[in-house]
Amino acid sequence: MLRIAPSVLSADFGSLAEAVGAVAPEADWLHVDVMDAHFVPNLTIGPPVVASLRRHTGLFFDCHLMMTSPGDYLEAFRHAGADGCTVHVEVGDTAALLGEAKLLGLRAGLAINPETPYDAIDPFLGEADLILCMTVHPGFGGQTFMAEVLPKIARTRAELDRRGLGADLEVDGGIDEDTAPAVVHAGARVLVAGSAIFGDERPWEAARRIRSAGEKALPGAPIDS
Ligand code: DX5
Ligand code: ZN
Repeated sequence: MLRIAPSVLSADFGSLAEAVGAVAPEADWLHVDVMDAHFVPNLTIGPPVVASLRRHTGLFFDCHLMMTSPGDYLEAFRHAGADGCTVHVEVGDTAALLGEAKLLGLRAGLAINPETPYDAIDPFLGEADLILCMTVHPGFGGQTFMAEVLPKIARTRAELDRRGLGADLEVDGGIDEDTAPAVVHAGARVLVAGSAIFGDERPWEAARRIRSAGEKALPGAPIDS
């Protein structure tokens, strides 16, 4: 099964609730990009916006913390209504951060940047509820998908399966109906998409197209004639 997680980064921040409502019928999760202008050169939203959105939707909030010090904010995001929080392996202190997220009742995610080798996440596969392989350099929506990350996605899938671990494998960056099959073929099962969804006049249809393109690459999917 695939999950589609529209990223609100590409939505109209002036009418976020409406944007989320428009995509909700085709969304499994809502991906919320939190940027601190330090870990990445951009600044986005924090717990107050998550709390406001929480009043408008029951969707699972998948909060992607592109922050140097995510530990200072996990509790605030939990109280604001986050369901999952994903921290980056590049900021260090990984075991403690994943443990703290779980203690707070969050699903604990671990993200890895395109240039960071697989070995950085290997020790934590059993501790994380989700592994997020970035397929662009984090910081901005609308960038080009980096196909060179595909082997790392495949390696992560292989290791999760080999060890019998049930962590979700998510990809984020440049995902659209053209790139979805490749990431699903490599083993991703949660697809984040921002500009491909919210840049479309009918975001729910864009989400549906990405899902259907990805589903065709699932193991055992019927081959198109
Ligand atoms: C990038 C963010 C992504 C972003 C993806 O740093 O983590 O979630 O919204 O946007 P697209 O789908 O436009 O590449
Ligand atoms: Zn993201």
